Amino acid sequence: MSNIVIIGTQWGDEGKGKIVDMLAEVADVVVRFQGGNNAGHTMVVNGEQFISHLVPSGILQKKTCLIGNGLVVDPAVLAEEMDYLISKGIPVGPDNLKISERAQMIMPYHREIDHAREKMKGDKKIGTTGRGIGPAYEDKSTRRGIRFVDLMDSETFGEKVRAILDEKNFYLRNYLSAETLDPDQIIAEYGKYAERLAPHITNVSVAIHQAIREGKQVLFEGAQGTHLDIDHGTYPYVTSSNTVSGNACCGSGIGPKEITGIIGIVKAYTTRVGAGPFPSELFDAIGDQIQEKGAEFGATTGRRRRCGWLDMVLLRNAVRLNSLTGLVITKLDVLDGLKELRICTGYEYEGKILNDFPASLKILGACKPVYETLPGWSEDISGMRKLEDFPKNTRDYLQRIETLLEVPIQIVSVGPGRDETIIVSHPLKS
Ligand code: GDP
Ligand code: IMO
Ligand code: MG
Repeated sequence: MSNIVIIGTQWGDEGKGKIVDMLAEVADVVVRFQGGNNAGHTMVVNGEQFISHLVPSGILQKKTCLIGNGLVVDPAVLAEEMDYLISKGIPVGPDNLKISERAQMIMPYHREIDHAREKMKGDKKIGTTGRGIGPAYEDKSTRRGIRFVDLMDSETFGEKVRAILDEKNFYLRNYLSAETLDPDQIIAEYGKYAERLAPHITNVSVAIHQAIREGKQVLFEGAQGTHLDIDHGTYPYVTSSNTVSGNACCGSGIGPKEITGIIGIVKAYTTRVGAGPFPSELFDAIGDQIQEKGAEFGATTGRRRRCGWLDMVLLRNAVRLNSLTGLVITKLDVLDGLKELRICTGYEYEGKILNDFPASLKILGACKPVYETLPGWSEDISGMRKLEDFPKNTRDYLQRIETLLEVPIQIVSVGPGRDETIIVSHPLKS
């Protein structure tokens, strides 16, 4: 039986949602283990698009979906997402959607602080999604977070909200010059979520162990991407959780030996939304063409995504940090029609070639990408369903990625739809 982690290798939006949805056909359980509704995972089924922010992307395949302890969950967003799915005829109930009692809650003051801080930073802002993610993880680390288990006990919940709000209101009013919040209003609002979500709240670690014991296959769905990791990414232009595969264990309550494979999702080029360094970024007509053809707008905030060439320094970093056992190349069709393709193989810094990703943003900002150039293809590959059908230059591009990364490509995606996919070797069937 296989239990696979799916990880973004770049700066997010690699197409994790599509691949998790597709693989969930064979899996039994899908688990989110970090992040929150900063994520936007798109699934397209029979031409209809679904974007999930919190509910794991196995929901359309009617699989058991688990929200692990490692997330920061905005209950308002979760309830809304559940209603949306139900309105689309997708069953969502306590049997198929479970939330860890240990998961942290995003509170209204987290959102307020996120917005007000970004506003205060002006052009030095991170470009967060404004969903309160950083402030919620901050409270988790300083042991002042409020968890779902607290929501289940109205007395404890009320005490915690009142205690923390004194300090948050002081900070909002006196430092951030923002609106303060009323504890009674929060307690009343969250009381409704308590009622709604109570049947879903459980010990997710136990649920995963039981599933594994019964021989079920589990997919761990990463959010964001390796270079948005709080430790390993382009700090401080990162998110506030560990996005690498190791956190699949901490964020869901399993040990590393349960994991049998780690699949890295690689967009055939690179994108980034929000601020921060991006050495292979394109500022020309080719960048615009990729942005338009790839419809590169954020699935959560609608912001235009910055686009650039594929970057092997990033990807080698992702292979090492995540122990990738296989790759999925997505959005290859977006490169159709480009005369030449470039692959960044290293960074030049002060006359030397850096092969590894530098920690210093100053150095990273001064790095010049070193490219190798490959010929492009003019054909439309979106209808092709076998590697052999691809033009030779397309196959050569894939082969070059495999050679440079020394990890096998298991899936190639040529369109947003579930079936617009070529499976070379199925991660859950091999
Ligand atoms: P995620 O956050 O990693 O799940 O990725 P997003 O959903 O934010 O962004 C990926 C976008 O690309 C979505 O709009 C997908 O529908 C779309 N997509 C995924 N795979 C492909 C592909 O192979 N080709 C094309 N053209 N679009 C794709
Ligand atoms: P998925 O799962 C792309 C980025 C934000 C910002 C930084 C910090 O869809 O790939 P945060 O709100 O997390 O404090 O913002 O991280 N970011 C993402 N970028 N895809 C995501 O998720 C992202 N989640 C956060 O744009 O630069
Ligand atoms: Mg996304």
